[in-house]
Amino acid sequence: MKFICFIALLILILFQGSNGYDLVHESCMKASKNDPIIHYDFCVASLDESVSSHSSNPPTSMEDLVAISIQIAKSNATNIVSIISNLLKEDPTNKSLVSEYAKECLRDCSDLYSDSVSDLDDAMTAFESQDFDTASIKVSAAMEASVTCENQFNDGNEESPLTENDNTYFELNAMSLAFIKMHQ
Ligand SMILES: *[C@@H]1O[C@H](CO)[C@@H](O)[C@H](O)[C@H]1NC(C)=O
Repeated sequence: MKFICFIALLILILFQGSNGYDLVHESCMKASKNDPIIHYDFCVASLDESVSSHSSNPPTSMEDLVAISIQIAKSNATNIVSIISNLLKEDPTNKSLVSEYAKECLRDCSDLYSDSVSDLDDAMTAFESQDFDTASIKVSAAMEASVTCENQFNDGNEESPLTENDNTYFELNAMSLAFIKMHQ
């Protein structure tokens, strides 16, 4: 009996120690069940990666998860803007690499992603002041950037060089939306 109590205590202590990660796993599980866009593995991996790369403390609340997911999306958008600028720079002499139409799309996408960074700043400000509706609206606006960007290529029957980035960005914002909802 004493032994069983000891084991139970040990298990309790072990679980206490990994609270942050349980929160990540549980929240990603819930988010992925409610929204088929969100993949559990992607959700966990991107949150864990962000926590370890900033060597910040594991998240302990839904507030933390919302803040982290918005932060990841923001840095994603910033990276995508520089990816686009590299695509536009690439070999300016060889016009066949990127068509004029695709270049137009890329310039638009760059503007869309730059604007979405300020949408995410607004979302964070709104969230911090407990205005969850505005926070969700701003995250949705940021999310739209990836859809609009991708659609432009499709409309012109151009192959989008940004499909993967657009999809990732969409999913990251879907995570923020799910966490904001779960927090309320
Ligand atoms: C966007 O974020 C995801 C998840 O953290 C990451 O895997 C991906 O490399 C990022 N993409 C860019 C362009 O930063």
